[in-house]
Amino acid sequence: MVMRKVLAAGALMLLTSAAPPSHSFSVHGADLLLDGKPFQIISGELHYPRIPRAYWRDRLLKAKAMGLNTVTTYVFWNLHEPRPGVYDFAGQNDVAAFLREAQGVGLHVILRPGPYVCAEWELGGYPAWLLKDRTLHLRSADPRYTAAVERWLLRLGKEMKPLLVQNGGPVIAVQLENEYGAFGSDPAYLKGLRASYKRAGLAEGVLFTSNQAGDLARGSLPDLPSVVNFGSGGARNAAARLEAFRPDGPRMVGEYWAGWFDKWGEDHHETSGEKEAEELSFLLKRGYSVSLYMAHGGTSFGWMNGADSHKGTDYHPDTTSYDYDAPLDEAGNPRAKYGLIARAVADATGRPLAPTPAATPARRFPVSPIRRSASLWDNLPRPVRAARPLTFEELGQNFGYVLYRTTLPAGQGGTLMLKGMHSYAQVYLDRRLVGTLDRRLGQETAELPRLPRGATLDVLVENTGRVNYSKAIRTEQAGLTGAVTLAGAPVADWRMFSLPMDDPSRLRFKAQGCTGPCFFQAELTVDRPADTWLDTRGLHKGQLWLGARNLGRFWSIGPAFTLYAPAPWLRAGRNTITFFDLSGEAGERLDTMARPIFGKVTNVREAQ
Ligand code: GLA
Repeated sequence: MVMRKVLAAGALMLLTSAAPPSHSFSVHGADLLLDGKPFQIISGELHYPRIPRAYWRDRLLKAKAMGLNTVTTYVFWNLHEPRPGVYDFAGQNDVAAFLREAQGVGLHVILRPGPYVCAEWELGGYPAWLLKDRTLHLRSADPRYTAAVERWLLRLGKEMKPLLVQNGGPVIAVQLENEYGAFGSDPAYLKGLRASYKRAGLAEGVLFTSNQAGDLARGSLPDLPSVVNFGSGGARNAAARLEAFRPDGPRMVGEYWAGWFDKWGEDHHETSGEKEAEELSFLLKRGYSVSLYMAHGGTSFGWMNGADSHKGTDYHPDTTSYDYDAPLDEAGNPRAKYGLIARAVADATGRPLAPTPAATPARRFPVSPIRRSASLWDNLPRPVRAARPLTFEELGQNFGYVLYRTTLPAGQGGTLMLKGMHSYAQVYLDRRLVGTLDRRLGQETAELPRLPRGATLDVLVENTGRVNYSKAIRTEQAGLTGAVTLAGAPVADWRMFSLPMDDPSRLRFKAQGCTGPCFFQAELTVDRPADTWLDTRGLHKGQLWLGARNLGRFWSIGPAFTLYAPAPWLRAGRNTITFFDLSGEAGERLDTMARPIFGKVTNVREAQ
């Protein structure tokens, strides 16, 4: 009896000590109040999937040492619900653990659950399977869309509720949608989404919208705080526009772009740290709360890069590197602007300047010559047959490549038209390369020679990243998405080979060279794991894995010529590197570097 009493008392103590103290965060007119006292948010954006989990704490500590008191992150729906109703919050996807890590180092959190997030991320964070039904309208009041969003948010709510500030967690504010005013102007859509947030428990505290200055009216709701997003050079104008739009509302910048992203085939971006520090200083002294986009960009590992499109017809896929020229570089090391920004924050707040964290040196490791290879042609799965080409989404495939095959009737030649080819294709006749089509360049046709007899036509299509901006997101099905004709006549009877490339260990390698679309393997020998950069200048275009980790894409057009291989993903001894090159040849070369290589630099930031 006594024993039971002692146990009960113990359990009670556990319960009471386990319940974290509740805090409050609120908006009163222009003031942000934390536990009733005025609070200036000095935040920076970090995305949990763009940072190896073993480095989350390191990056958060360095962000804090720059003077930040808060971090901002999106939640990336497509990572968490890879198939309808199948959820993944493990490992890299454990967003709750990331938020707890932030709280552990003494940072508050601004949560941006989207579900549209933009962010140079595949389809702006939407799961690709939403596009299987071509009549579904993303980012609208379409009930098929809102039902999928509601189900997702209810699930996310379960993860997030304990992390809200009123429940003792780090999340002080939640952003509704993301720059909706740049996309549409339907208040019913925003209100409907807000109702879903409410049912998911995500709208119990401070909920706000964020928009670019010209879109504030279209993208805000009258009873929610509204904040503004802009980049270097825009501070004075954007502040004036926010203050005119909401004279009595909080002064806050949801994203101050302290850098910019890179796109394949275009210049590498660097922006002025001096200008950014000066504008940050102006904003902080004017009483603004600010979130830097990005404090640390990191890497869009795997297939997760998005693509830019302004007019909805142009296409600019983003690089795997999301370095962003942010204060902390892709490997988490402070660059010059880190110190400038830290000083601006210390000066504006009167708080002491923390020492700049030391850089973690990257190292070079020996890579073996490439000895094993596997031809794509020898590693095809069972095909799916259909009269017309099926999209990736119809095949139940989110990312990677699809090989489309058909047999052409004898004698035919002329223009092969692949309408709506998304987004890079190599065309083969009897395995001989006869054309390359690149959506960036608006290419949809290949010329086929007259054939003395029928031939096998193979079209190998890569999804180089779905668009994440503009109305184009609604028609971002991947693969052959439109009609295929040869000399004007429809081409029918297709076999589709799904190549999601999600498990390189299942390939059958041979100890020989390979030409054409091939997988290759080499070994990286590591004495003591350290960060390194894989130099891809000896390769053409494809995908690279370190062990089972998909590090991302390489493409000889740059501007990124290296892939980040973080120390926690290396082990002492031999590490297998597998890569797929669309244009394999005998001279493939792979090396490591102690620093990244970027191509031509421009410091002219584009207006988005
Ligand atoms: C906008 C979006 C962000 C990001 C930036 C550009 O502000 O809200 O997600 O795409 O542009 O990097």
